[in-house]
Parts: sequence; structure tokens; C-alpha cells
Amino acid sequence: MTLDRRNFIKGALAVTMLPQPAHAGADDALPLKTRAARRGIVFGTAVRRSALEKDPDYARAVIRDCAILVPEVEMKWGVIERTRGVRDYAAADWLVTFAAKHGLALRGHTAAWHGNLPPWAKDALRGPDGKAIFDHHVRDLIGHFAGKLSDWDVVNEAIFPGNRLPGGFGNTILYQQFGRSYVIDPFFIARQADPKALLFYNDAKLYYDDSDHAARRRHVLALLEWLKAGEAPLDGLGIQGHLDAGGPKISPDYRAFLKDVAGLGLKITVTELDVNDRLLGPDAAQRDRAVADHAKEFLDITLDERAVGGVLTWGWSDRYTWLNGAHKWARTDGLRNRALPLDEQNRRKPLWHAIAAALDGAPDRRT
Ligand code: XIL
Repeated sequence: MTLDRRNFIKGALAVTMLPQPAHAGADDALPLKTRAARRGIVFGTAVRRSALEKDPDYARAVIRDCAILVPEVEMKWGVIERTRGVRDYAAADWLVTFAAKHGLALRGHTAAWHGNLPPWAKDALRGPDGKAIFDHHVRDLIGHFAGKLSDWDVVNEAIFPGNRLPGGFGNTILYQQFGRSYVIDPFFIARQADPKALLFYNDAKLYYDDSDHAARRRHVLALLEWLKAGEAPLDGLGIQGHLDAGGPKISPDYRAFLKDVAGLGLKITVTELDVNDRLLGPDAAQRDRAVADHAKEFLDITLDERAVGGVLTWGWSDRYTWLNGAHKWARTDGLRNRALPLDEQNRRKPLWHAIAAALDGAPDRRT
């Protein structure tokens, strides 16, 4: 063997033995939206107007990897109608223009949700015109964007088995006032207001191996069956996907749940993927690794189901994750969460590579 050849082999070995970035894919240059599209999947993220406007570096990063956006807050009732009768669509319209300018699809979020009601509505919904006020909100909201959005999370988070109501419904003001009609009526209103958008029921906590998630799977499936039986114009289920690294395991029943939902003729989208690291110690590299591994496991199982046609993360850069707010999901040691594909400097983290690998490994929906 010549010296040159020996050196070449040594060199090649040295290269293969270099530590590889976690979950490094074959082609790191390929954006996530392109990897997803190659499998017939739409990929995107939740955004806020304020961040896109003031942070061009972040905006560029979003546009590079995403084919669809969803507003994190701008379409919620509490933002649209802070003052009764004054409906302000400016922030949401700004996002419609932004998406159109960059050729991105836009998802609506969300028309019927107890979680972000304007304070005035809490009294108004209890009054004699309560249902009319609620229906009007749904009709006006969805009608405002008619023809411009690809999908809507029409109803959000109706199921809370812990509240022990029949059907697993949450004991929210909407359920108290209107019963199940608050879950079915918005679909009919939405289809009429925007015949083109795909209409989703969106909910949380459907994949772990614990009694809460198991009850939610059961109740959500029954709810979807009930909506179908009532001939509601329902196109799909949104699975939020707020994961916890270092938390419970993924349930062995989760695959069957996805199959059952698909069996109803419904599409499935992962609508709010992020990976909270609050249960992990402080070491950033270890957290990043665990977050990536957990997301990969979740996505591999989820994307194996061909009815899953979309994945959206709930934010794009750790700089803006909602998990750093002052709430029960924040870390208790004062460190900031590393839940999203990019770090606070907008550099890719192992989670980005894990998503890339999961998309690359997904079965092709187009064949
Ligand atoms: C969250 C936003 O991210 C926060 O900024 C806001 O303060 C509260 O709502 N499930 C949902 C989303 O469907 O609308 C929530 O978004 C996160 C949980």
C-alpha cells in the first residue's frame, strides 16, 4: 500500500469518527418544508406579528423552513374584540398579507375556545343573547378570512376528563351555557362562512401512557364519532403536541388511536408541537438531546399514520417560546426553556435535525 493510500484511509477514518451533530441528516441544506413536501406533508409553525415585524433574522428563518403559518394569538376572540362591538382584525390581516407575500399557507386558530375570551364576553355569554353572540363571533371571524386560509382549528380543547362531566367535556363557560351545541354548531357556521377551508377539531394530551391521556383519547374519539354522526362538516383532528421531555412514555395505544381517527375518514395534523424541558436538569446540551430524541419518537409514530398530513410547531425560536411566560409550564429554576427547533440566537438545535430525520423517514403520502 502506498503512503498516499494509507494516509487517505487514515483521513477517511478520522472523518467518519468525528462526532456528528445529533440527528444530522444527509442533506442539512434542505429546508424542512421541502423535506415534508417530498412526503406529501405540509410543515410550518405558529408566529406572532410582533416578532416577525421587529426581528428580520427570525422572519427569514421562519420563511426558510415553513410552508404554513398559524397565528399564536392574533385570531383569538380576546384579541379580535377586546372591546365589545369593536372588532379589530388589523394584526391578523397583517399576517394574511405576510403569508401571501411569501407564498405561505395560513391556518386559522381558533374560533370556539374558552381560553382567550374577552372579559366582557364572560358576562355577555351568560345573558339571554349568549348563544347569538357566540355564533356571531364564529361567523364573523371565519367569514372575515374566507378564501384566504387553508385550514381552521374551529373548536379548541373541549375535553377535560378531570372535570368528570358526561362525555369528558370540560366544565367551561361555553359548555355550561350551550352544552354540546358549542362544539357542533361552529362547524356548520364555519363551512357556510368559508366553504374552502378544511375544518378541524383541535385538542391536547392524546399520546402519553397515563390515565389522563387515555381518557382523552377515548373521549375525543367519541366526540369525533358524534360530530360525524351529526353530519358536521368536520375534516380533521388537530393533535396539539405540547410534549414533555423526561415525562411519561408514549402510549402503546397511540398508534391505534391515530388509526381509529383516520378510519373515520378524517385528516390529522400535529398543530402545536413543542417540547417542554422543565422536567430536565440545567445542562443545555443534555436538554437539547433529550428534547430532540423525544420529538423524534413522537413524530416517527405519528407520521407513520398516512392520514397525518401536516406538522406545525408552536413557535420557531426559543427566543419567543410561550413556555417562558410566568405560568405553570415554565421551568422552576429560572432557566429559559429550549423547546423549539432554533435556539435564542436562531441557530438550529438537535430538535431541528430530529424533525428533519422524522420527515425524511415518513412514508410518502403521494403514492
Ligand atoms: C397560547 C399562546 O402561545 C400564548 O402566547 C397565550 O398567552 C396563551 O395561549 N393550546 C392552544 C394555544 O391551543 O392557543 C395556546 O397558545 C397554547 C395551548
